[in-house]
Amino acid sequence: MAGSTDPPSVGQPLWLLAELTYKCPLHCVFCYNPTQHAHIHDEMSTAQWVDVMTQARKLGAAQLGFSGGEPLLRDDLEELVQEAHHLGYYTNLITSGVGLTPARAQKLKDAGLDHVQLSFQDSTRELNDFLSHTKTFELKQRVAKLIKQHDWPMVMNCVLHRHNLPHVRKIIEMAVALEAEYLELANTQYYGWAWINRDHLMPTREELQVAEAEVNAFRAEQDAQSSGQKCRVLFVVPDYFEERPKACMNGWGAVFLSIAPDGLAMPCHNARDLPGLQLPNVKDTPIADIWQRSTAFNAYRGDSWMKPTCRSCDERHKDFGGCRCQAFLITGDATETDPVCSKSAHHHKVVQVVKNAPTRRNIPIVFRSDAESRALHPAP
Ligand code: FES
Repeated sequence: MAGSTDPPSVGQPLWLLAELTYKCPLHCVFCYNPTQHAHIHDEMSTAQWVDVMTQARKLGAAQLGFSGGEPLLRDDLEELVQEAHHLGYYTNLITSGVGLTPARAQKLKDAGLDHVQLSFQDSTRELNDFLSHTKTFELKQRVAKLIKQHDWPMVMNCVLHRHNLPHVRKIIEMAVALEAEYLELANTQYYGWAWINRDHLMPTREELQVAEAEVNAFRAEQDAQSSGQKCRVLFVVPDYFEERPKACMNGWGAVFLSIAPDGLAMPCHNARDLPGLQLPNVKDTPIADIWQRSTAFNAYRGDSWMKPTCRSCDERHKDFGGCRCQAFLITGDATETDPVCSKSAHHHKVVQVVKNAPTRRNIPIVFRSDAESRALHPAP
């Protein structure tokens, strides 16, 4: 019933995201890693990661993503995959492809890696290399072939924004040619470096609609074919163009457990940026305590934390008030209704950003780098 609150229920952390390192050879302008990454040291050891995986598995985690930064920069990746495999996880490597040599691919196959998600920035070399500030386009093509040679299911991931939305059809054709089983066309979510570059990357509604129509046309053509390899295309509409927020992370502390390179445990990979949240660390606290009893993981469970707009809304169990990080970034208060929601008193701010997009395109773009990270967050 609208108006009453429910006690938070604590389920299992089904999804474990192991962010092995924030180091990355690429410099993507939409990277979701924290912009203060250059100050984050003390990466966990192999033994600490194995302990994390073991504890989380006991709690019920079944899917494990190895991510970063670039997880292939860790030379113990094969060992971690093997341990994860023995523990019974379904393992996914989330990579830019840099570092996936034939020798390492074979070792990862032997270690039991189940699945690979390979990122591209665009269907053209020029834009791919510009957006990542590296010459990686050809390398990614070679890596895609290597992934298929090792018989892994492949998700190709391409983050969309106003630069590459006009190339959506070509991006799809590239995914089909590379035999990707899935293509994730993930419109930019504005956190981390993407938040800094938000005005530069924001498309217009028309650009978005044209791209979505291309996706739908491809789906219809593919459905009409009776045979041949199918590539499933996922097109996620960006929050800023919606009237209702997404159920971010499926709800705070509901199923998702992210562990940062330094051992910080987070209910979402951007939680480090939320002020006042005392995030626990797996180096000194058991994961069961973190998941079930820590203040941070309980902060936005259930609905008693909600402000009246969310608490009185019949949709609160569907979207859980939306994204806490987005609420904080746009309103300065993480307990606010996600301003993507048209019921939010701050919704006009989201509308305005979209409206201003065409006039804000000449502002400088900021590439992710250690130097920029230090410039944005000078050492205390
Ligand atoms: Fe942190 Fe949505 S990204 S709650």
